[in-house]
Amino acid sequence: MRRRLFVTTALPYANGPFHIGHIMEYIQADIWVRFQRMQGHEAHLIGADDAHGAPIMLAAEKAGKPPEQFVAEIARGRKQYLDGFHIEFDNWHSTHSKENTELSQDIYRKLVNAGLVYKEPIAQFFDPVKGMFLADRYIKGECPNCGAKDQYGDACENCGTVYSPTKLKNPYSTLSGAKPVLKSSEHHFFRLSDPKCKEFLREWINKPGRLQPQVANKAKEWLEGKGDKTLADWDISRDPPYFGIRIPDIKEEKYLYVWLDAPIGYLASLKNYFDSGKARAKGETRSFAEFLAADGTEMIHFIGKDIIYFHTLFWPAMLQYSGYKTPDHVYVHGFITVSGDKMSKSRGTGVDPLRYLELGMNPEWLRYYIAAKLNANVEDIDFDPDDFKARVNSDLIGKFVNIAARSSKFISDRFDSRLAEIKRTQWLGDLPLREDILRSIGAHYENREFGKAVRDTMMIADKVNRYFDSAQPWELAKSQKNDTRLHEICSESLDYFRLLCSLLRPILPHLVKQAERFLNCELQRWDSATTPLPAGHKINRYEHLMTRVEEKQLDALFDLSKETAMTAPQLSPAAAGDGVISIDDFNKIDLRIAKIVKAEHVDGADKLLKLTLDTGNGTRTVFAGIKSAYDPAKLEGRLTVMVANLAPRKMKFGVSEGMVLAASGDGPGVFLLSPDSGAQPGMRVK
Ligand code: 2FM
Ligand code: ZN
Repeated sequence: MRRRLFVTTALPYANGPFHIGHIMEYIQADIWVRFQRMQGHEAHLIGADDAHGAPIMLAAEKAGKPPEQFVAEIARGRKQYLDGFHIEFDNWHSTHSKENTELSQDIYRKLVNAGLVYKEPIAQFFDPVKGMFLADRYIKGECPNCGAKDQYGDACENCGTVYSPTKLKNPYSTLSGAKPVLKSSEHHFFRLSDPKCKEFLREWINKPGRLQPQVANKAKEWLEGKGDKTLADWDISRDPPYFGIRIPDIKEEKYLYVWLDAPIGYLASLKNYFDSGKARAKGETRSFAEFLAADGTEMIHFIGKDIIYFHTLFWPAMLQYSGYKTPDHVYVHGFITVSGDKMSKSRGTGVDPLRYLELGMNPEWLRYYIAAKLNANVEDIDFDPDDFKARVNSDLIGKFVNIAARSSKFISDRFDSRLAEIKRTQWLGDLPLREDILRSIGAHYENREFGKAVRDTMMIADKVNRYFDSAQPWELAKSQKNDTRLHEICSESLDYFRLLCSLLRPILPHLVKQAERFLNCELQRWDSATTPLPAGHKINRYEHLMTRVEEKQLDALFDLSKETAMTAPQLSPAAAGDGVISIDDFNKIDLRIAKIVKAEHVDGADKLLKLTLDTGNGTRTVFAGIKSAYDPAKLEGRLTVMVANLAPRKMKFGVSEGMVLAASGDGPGVFLLSPDSGAQPGMRVK
């Protein structure tokens, strides 16, 4: 049966470029969709920017741009990443769009009609200077439990106590510094606790095969409550100023909370895809409404583990009670770490995907490496530069591409580029039948066990290489009387290379396209290579399919010199535009006196010294590009100035937890800053 698939990836916030975590998710979905198409299924991969909400509104304000312009500029930057990594979305749209406004208001109205929306006044902190209500993350103060300063409105990072922002002592708004006041406003709530809602969700969550077991368990825990925690109703309205979609049919200016309109963006992008004629161009002749309502249309979301709650409770309930189709599957992946360091959404440290592309690194290396690490569980995966290099070079170059290079040479040079008849000869006899290989590796793809698909594919590549080696074609080639055997071995190896190309096509679409030209055959369908190419089939001249990963590329990717540059624009990207920053901007930089307690050379680094700093509040490790100017022994005991609130950055040699300040000019020399005598580690510099 031909499946009809509507596949999405989580909509990224339109306030920054993609990081490696986004790219991983898109690669996962893209591989799965490409595999489905090879199976002959109809699949549409749909994405969009998640454009609304307070953080984006504030980011736009800070950039001095209207939010519409701000998000449009971010959207324009998406293509280079997607094209760069061969990620083929059928449509990319935005939640800030007419389709999303219409759909969100429609869904809101239907929820009201279903009796699932009620209004209730709530008192919340309000910033009288900014004139806006403050989400917890914009409020800081002293912890009510331990008294630690500068703690966020929801929990103390020092003692771990969880509280509501109104419990903070001496609270202040992180936006203006003003003391927030309590103010009441009427909010709209989605009655998620309604028994019919819960009953529906119970059934939805428990449908076998819909969710990964781990995910279903998590959702059930939230649904049924644990201890005194029960499923709470959901606050879906926000007061102005807000960048979002107006709540319809009421006099007051209120907006839908961004998390209500965000997933509706999946539908909005799909609608735009249909209404713009793009779906028709891909052979889907139904309308948007017909497609969604049609029997057998499957709606499948790929998401990260941090947004399970929204996708397994709010989203299906919203759809159910507004009369739309509910999701068939939500496939959840873990995070990607870089050398064991957590990739955070807001501060994407580690591998910068754009830099990767700009360095001319092959996107299919990353696709392959990520595929090799992915499985169907909600597990984090790690990008380890050494492992990356070893895997790509040994698997893709050493095993896979090598077969084509070696076998095609004899065929071109000796046999007029024509293949011999390919029999299932003895020497590959212990490989399973091609049908069985395709079936079992196909099942791995279907189940998102890409790591297993890669492993089993490479086992076949290993075998082909071993047999090729044991037949010693280069020896056979010494005498013409061995021609038949030589021809047979090379043809057979090359046809197995063709099978391997089929098996890797979802992961390496670009390479396989080149290989199709070289092999002079098409591999569009999963079963294309079930039967061998016929005797006499003519191939084209082999051209290099892939180069090796070089150590220096990885060095450049982790960009040692740039990571340690200590220049003003780096300290304050906000200043890049007009050169002027406000005192608030300046105050965001936490400059502290630090004492260098240890300074060491770093193996393999030309420019870096590893510094251990006493910050007055524990020690930190910082890698500084000052090796050319300082003898480490002479630095120990010295005071300097550090940026204490710089996001930690993963570098090739370890994590750098801050930055020390130094001066440099056009000429040679780097000059570390020192405070006047009397300064102590931990003192604030301002
Ligand atoms: O967590 C996030 O990055 C959200 N922007 C994901 C939204 S997914 C969907 F609901 F739009
Ligand atoms: Zn505390």
